[in-house]
Amino acid sequence: MYILIVGSTGVLGREAARQLLVAGHKVRAMARDVEKAADLRAMGAEVIQGDLIDPESLKKACQGVDAVLAAAHQLMGTGKYTSEAVDDAGHRSLIDAAKAAGVKHFVYTSVIGVRPDHPVDFIRCKSKIETYLKSSGLSYTILRPPAFMEHHVHNLLGATIQTTGKTTIYGKGDNPVNFIAGVDVARFAVIALTDPRLKNRAIDIGGPDNLSKNDVVKLYEKYTGRKASVSHVPTGVMKVMGPILRPIQPVLSRLMAFSVWMDTCDQRFDTTAMLKEFPMPLTRVEDFVHNVASGNNS
Ligand SMILES: NC(=O)c1ccc[n+]([C@@H]2O[C@H](COP(=O)([O-])OP(=O)(O)OC[C@H]3O[C@@H](n4cnc5c(N)ncnc54)[C@H](OP(=O)(O)O)[C@@H]3O)[C@@H](O)[C@H]2O)c1
Repeated sequence: MYILIVGSTGVLGREAARQLLVAGHKVRAMARDVEKAADLRAMGAEVIQGDLIDPESLKKACQGVDAVLAAAHQLMGTGKYTSEAVDDAGHRSLIDAAKAAGVKHFVYTSVIGVRPDHPVDFIRCKSKIETYLKSSGLSYTILRPPAFMEHHVHNLLGATIQTTGKTTIYGKGDNPVNFIAGVDVARFAVIALTDPRLKNRAIDIGGPDNLSKNDVVKLYEKYTGRKASVSHVPTGVMKVMGPILRPIQPVLSRLMAFSVWMDTCDQRFDTTAMLKEFPMPLTRVEDFVHNVASGNNS
């Protein structure tokens, strides 16, 4: 198969590209900055320049491919790269371009817990794009993963424990959260792109562990040998400040809404049904932390 990956320089897109190339598929990796995808070119991918806010580039990117994996986002985008421009308008342009080019299957990466009245605007947008894709007439799969370990375990929590011994938890941090590794989301993306069982379905996926952020800190302490100094941003402060900041600091406001949701709503996932249908080994949070604390890339 010939597959276009949008977001090929991100955690999911890069790993999905690698797995597809290893499996013998032809990959077109779209990137805003092609130099960031040099590793994929070295592995045999065709690397092209493209941007979700440039509809003409999307038309070119979709020409001749069998399937598209949409794995880009701008949760924290500013300037011309607002979430509205990329996650909403950009994804509608991508779906339109795929349809016009005769693409046979479109895989969209949504998020677990998505719903039209979600408290986080970014996730309401995911719901809107799910609806747009379903009504586009394209064959589709929608993947709904939880928090990726690379971002939510390492970048946002553990990385600074390794470097400075300090970290910040937004909220109390005792709510159990399901985390999934990028490599495992990518396995599902490959299935979604190549296996007809996932045609025209939206599927919740997740990792093997439901751990609190405080549990994650303990794992970093165990594997780095450092006692962490943890600051907490109180949930009450975020609940009050989020809406106030919205007109002047929309990204900060969104992150506060996101953090309140993660800290106060049920974030657990049971993998039983998923693994019954798609048996696969899943990365444990403890193994992931052990790995990054040993100096391997997150
Ligand atoms: N991370 C999570 O915890 C999580 C959880 C659930 C669902 N998801 C969803 O999973 C998907 C992949 O997430 P991720 O964490 O792998 O992403 P990521 O690592 O944050 O990377 C984001 C990707 O989007 C690209 N991008 C941003 N703006 C773009 C634009 N205007 N045009 C083209 N590409 C653009 C980035 O390119 P540059 O390298 O040029 O910046 C990068 O390749 C996203 O749809 C995300 O919403 C993520």
